Amino acid sequence: MIKKGVFIAAVSLFSFSSCGDGGGQQPFNPPKGYKSRSGKLIYSKHCTSCHGDNGKLGSGGAKDLTVSRMDSTEIVDILRNGKNGMPRQIQYFKSDEEVENMIDHLKSMRK
Ligand code: HEC
Repeated sequence: MIKKGVFIAAVSLFSFSSCGDGGGQQPFNPPKGYKSRSGKLIYSKHCTSCHGDNGKLGSGGAKDLTVSRMDSTEIVDILRNGKNGMPRQIQYFKSDEEVENMIDHLKSMRK
C-alpha cells in the first residue's frame, strides 16, 4: 500500500501547477459516476509499448520497472513531466484514483 500523506501531497502539487501551463492539462475532473480504471488496464494501454507486459522490455531506454525503487511522489512526477525518453503520461489518467491505482500496480510488479 502507498502512504496516503505522501501521495496526496504529490497530487495536490500536480493540480496546482497544472492550472497555468497552457498545455491543455487540466486538474482531474471526471464526470459524475465515473468509474476509475485499474492500474493494470491503463498500463496495458499506455505503457507496454516501451516497458512490456512485465515491465522489463526496456524499449528505447525504458527502465526496468521490476527493479525500480521510485516512491509515490517520484512516480507522480515522472508521469506528469516525463523524463528523457519517457513522454509525459498524465493525460491518460482521469482521476486521482487512477493514478493511485497505477502506483499500486507499478509497486506490485516489483520483485
Ligand atoms: C515512449 C516510451 C515510454 C512509454 C510509453 C512509457 N515509458 Fe516509462 N520510461 C521510459 C523511459 C525511456 C524511462 C527511463 C527514463 C530515464 O531516463 O530515467 C522510463 C521510466 C519510467 C519509470 C521510472 C523507473 C525508475 O525507477 O527510474 C516509471 C515508474 C515509468 N517509466 C512508468 C511508466 C508508466 C506507468 C507508463 C504508462 C502510463 C510509462 N512509463 C510509459 C519510456 C516510456
